[in-house]
Amino acid sequence: MDPTARAVESLLAFWADSGVDAALADAAENRLATGAVQATPIGADPQPLTPAPAAVTSSDTDLAIAQARAAAASADSLVELEAAIAAFDGCALKASARRAVFARGDPSAPIMIIGEAPGGDEDIQGLPFVGRAGQLLDRMLAAAGLADRVFITNTVFWRPPGNRTPTAPEQAICAPFVERAIALARPKALLLVGGASAKFLLGRSEGILGLRGRWFEWRSSDEALEIPALPTLHPAFLLRQPAAKKKSWADLLMLAERLDRPARPN
Ligand code: URA
Repeated sequence: MDPTARAVESLLAFWADSGVDAALADAAENRLATGAVQATPIGADPQPLTPAPAAVTSSDTDLAIAQARAAAASADSLVELEAAIAAFDGCALKASARRAVFARGDPSAPIMIIGEAPGGDEDIQGLPFVGRAGQLLDRMLAAAGLADRVFITNTVFWRPPGNRTPTAPEQAICAPFVERAIALARPKALLLVGGASAKFLLGRSEGILGLRGRWFEWRSSDEALEIPALPTLHPAFLLRQPAAKKKSWADLLMLAERLDRPARPN
């Protein structure tokens, strides 16, 4: 093998080992040659290592949100909603994803779980929470007796490149579909998995460690729907920090207890 091919192969293997499994652009850019990366003088504010994402102007975002609202409103069932999401072109994440990932589970379940975004396994299989984090979530739900009582979706429906956190505009553009899913499924409670889900859906700025294990009310944008919502830790975080599982366990028991609490007589 010629030395250049060997060097390229070795570099690709190094990236794969480091978890780099997605390209952010079609063409490579030599940022050293273009002078985009400059040394930072000691004491100056550090420059970001990656270029800022192309700005999404608020008018672009507003237009996409309006289109998402119209598409979501025209869906009269979850099946129609899934088709409307798959046909929607207003979210930039669609360009780099293999397919739209909508939901799995029982649409009439009392709990709707809302995660952050599809990852690599979800992008391949077309279903949310099917990778390692999803398998842990399933085991925890089963242990809490909740396995058959959930409908699972995410704040965005396409895998962000490199599994980055979805941006606020990406979440805002997908929000009318999430809201329509909630309105059509009418769950008794929402379980908001991870900070990106909890902060966005509840409009809060605290970190997930401050939000988890507390009940909030999620309200639809027209305020017509109000549903109890419980933030909890993301299972991907639990894979990295197994000691935090006891917190998630306490959250799931709190959720099960609330669902099974007998209604108060009038
Ligand atoms: N993480 C999420 O938040 N959602 C998925 O569907 C998979 C991983």
